[in-house]
Amino acid sequence: MISPVTPIGIEALSLYAPPFYLDLDDLGKARGVDPRKYRVGLAQDEMAMCPPDEDAVTMGAAAAAAALRQVDASKIGVVMLATESGIDQSKAGAIYIHGLLDLPRACWCFELKQACCSSTMGLHTALALVAQRPDRKVLVVASDIARYGLGTPGEPTQGAGAVAMVISAEPRLVAFDTAVGSYTADEMDFWRPNYLREAQVDGKHSIRVYLEALEHAWRDYREQGGAPYASLDRFCYHLPFNKMGQKAHQHLARISHGEAPQAGMAEAQAYGRRIGNTYTASLYVGLASLLETDPEDLTGRRIGFFSYGSGCMGSFFSGRVMPGYREALDAERHHRLLHDRHRLSIGTYEAWHRHDLPEDGSDYETPRVSDGPFRLAGIRDHQRQYERVETAPAASDLAEAETEVALADA
Ligand code: COA
Repeated sequence: MISPVTPIGIEALSLYAPPFYLDLDDLGKARGVDPRKYRVGLAQDEMAMCPPDEDAVTMGAAAAAAALRQVDASKIGVVMLATESGIDQSKAGAIYIHGLLDLPRACWCFELKQACCSSTMGLHTALALVAQRPDRKVLVVASDIARYGLGTPGEPTQGAGAVAMVISAEPRLVAFDTAVGSYTADEMDFWRPNYLREAQVDGKHSIRVYLEALEHAWRDYREQGGAPYASLDRFCYHLPFNKMGQKAHQHLARISHGEAPQAGMAEAQAYGRRIGNTYTASLYVGLASLLETDPEDLTGRRIGFFSYGSGCMGSFFSGRVMPGYREALDAERHHRLLHDRHRLSIGTYEAWHRHDLPEDGSDYETPRVSDGPFRLAGIRDHQRQYERVETAPAASDLAEAETEVALADA
């Protein structure tokens, strides 16, 4: 049996990407690399860049605020934040988001970690919590800043952004099947020790173990009663860079002795091409991209999902698109969000990349750069100060602030 009796799934799905990006042609020029390596070889065009006054909490809160506008927020009983860009070793980032959004006090809030697939562990946990108490809605937020060193092979596969999903017994977008395939193996393909700001990655090894995890999780999914390959209509893969999804798609077809259908593949990768890697959010950025840009009516179609988290863990699962899903999409907002971004110069990108909050405990006021709905105003007495932005800075202020930060950090 692959479908639960009561459908449980995604009622609302919203994204947030910071209002700045680096065009990978500019990066190619600066690094002396043929830009086709990025656009064709990695299948990436741009990458979103987090300004100095945003972090995983502000991005997550922005995505969550948009998702909650579409549901009865008073029913939210659990908030989870899946992230690899945590801001504290003890207090959950979910509590900051809960506070910024003024959610009900009768609520659990916690943070999840297992590289890029902790959002999927959040999703599976949310499905179980809603099955237990169908009157409750669960807010799963995935928010990350993908950072690799300047000039390293990982540099063109950075990005930043967040996804918020409201999981409930009133799914308007996707209802999930019960079969879930799992896989874990102790691997060192990608990790970030506490004392480093940038991830360590053995990129070639990560591609190999990603494909191994896919194969094992897929076989387990089938053993758990998951749908046969031929009955999956669309596919969403975790996308550290889009080419990885294409490699995964070919691999899954090969081990399933099938053809790799191309319908929906470009659509599922359209947003990721422009936002870049968002770690925990990436798979669900792909889902939003697919639902919002696929020209076909996907009602009733089954989507296969593969979630991968380095270290490593994989999960294969599936779900069906709900009737009327198009009315429940946040597509217009997402298109505006991507369209209205500012293109960074390579100088500002590098200055922001080097910029960091003080680590010696001193107070700090963050320059005002972002025009997102929430910002990190600074640090006082070791406490991050967040604020809701009532009016966005004018474009001229923005340009000035960009320059200021660039100069201060040059
Ligand atoms: N035109 C078109 N394609 C080109 C090209 C050009 N001028 N130059 C290179 N390419 C292609 C290569 O053939 C290769 O494609 P293939 O993998 O299909 O063969 C691709 O571009 C990448 O080139 P490669 O030489 O392998 O790149 P790299 O050594 O610089 O590293 C990654 C690429 C992906 C390994 C690196 O960016 C990385 O480690 N990223 C992080 C990955 C990650 O986050 N992993 C953990 C989570 S899963």
